[in-house]
Amino acid sequence: MKISVLGSTGTMGGLVVKAALQDGLTVENRVSSKDNIENLFKRTDVVVDFSCPIATESMLKYIVANKVSIPTVIGTTGLSKVHFDLMNECAKTTPIFHSPSMSFLVAILRIAIHAFAKLLNEDFDVEIMDVHHKLKKDSPSGTALMLGKTIANARNRKFADVANFVRYGIVEQRRRGEIGFAVQRCSNVIGTHEISFMGEYENLKLKHEAHSKETFSKEAIHIAKWLMTQRCGFYTMNDFTRDLITPALKSIYRELFTNTKIEN
Ligand SMILES: NC(=O)c1ccc[n+]([C@@H]2O[C@H](COP(=O)([O-])OP(=O)(O)OC[C@H]3O[C@@H](n4cnc5c(N)ncnc54)[C@H](OP(=O)(O)O)[C@@H]3O)[C@@H](O)[C@H]2O)c1
Repeated sequence: MKISVLGSTGTMGGLVVKAALQDGLTVENRVSSKDNIENLFKRTDVVVDFSCPIATESMLKYIVANKVSIPTVIGTTGLSKVHFDLMNECAKTTPIFHSPSMSFLVAILRIAIHAFAKLLNEDFDVEIMDVHHKLKKDSPSGTALMLGKTIANARNRKFADVANFVRYGIVEQRRRGEIGFAVQRCSNVIGTHEISFMGEYENLKLKHEAHSKETFSKEAIHIAKWLMTQRCGFYTMNDFTRDLITPALKSIYRELFTNTKIEN
């Protein structure tokens, strides 16, 4: 299997190259800011992109203009509606995947916070803390935004109506249902997200900490292999994890609510 990497000179791109070679894949093309984007699609089976929004945009425009049919995995964050519209256009000719976090544990965390948001009403104030290294440019992180959107969806609220990114000076009191974001950019922290559900008498917190960026690069290779088996379309982590997680969720429900012995 031949893979091409956009952003290959970067931290994540370099780790994807490493993970691909460790997995016995051939790294056919390595593309960065000095290269022509069309080189990415030469003689390759799959493309993985960890670059920056400008580079991702030119890659997506190239796919649309040339009706490229090579499966493409996108890990770049800081993307906007323009990029998602382009991805949907690309999805007409090729399988295309995007997630702001390739981590399997973040996928599990997302399921958990969706459940908590359903179980706990808006009496519980939600706050999301995003901590990353000082070189990270986009803020809040793509993962923090995805987690916030998950909670807003679970509560049937529009994310734009409930997200609060700014608290500075004299601000209004916290609105019911608000989802607050706090961001730290410091040192070499790989990526930590903590979601708090704060009630009047008790709190519930969930935290994910990445110890190594290799968690993202190795999972990107698994996703690339999986994407090659899919039809044209736009895919997310939900699609990648669905077959694995659905049976587990069904048995969790069965064991918790029909097998009373477990309680003791
Ligand atoms: N989804 C996930 O799980 C996940 C996990 C970690 C990070 N990320 C995201 O992945 C992205 C990359 O992170 P990183 O830490 O690896 O960044 P980085 O070290 O700054 O690397 C950026 C890469 O993009 C290339 N690039 C910049 N401008 C370009 C252009 N105009 N055309 C082509 N290539 C260009 C750079 O090439 P030059 O060296 O030539 O400038 C470099 O190879 C970020 O958006 C980050 O948030 C996602």
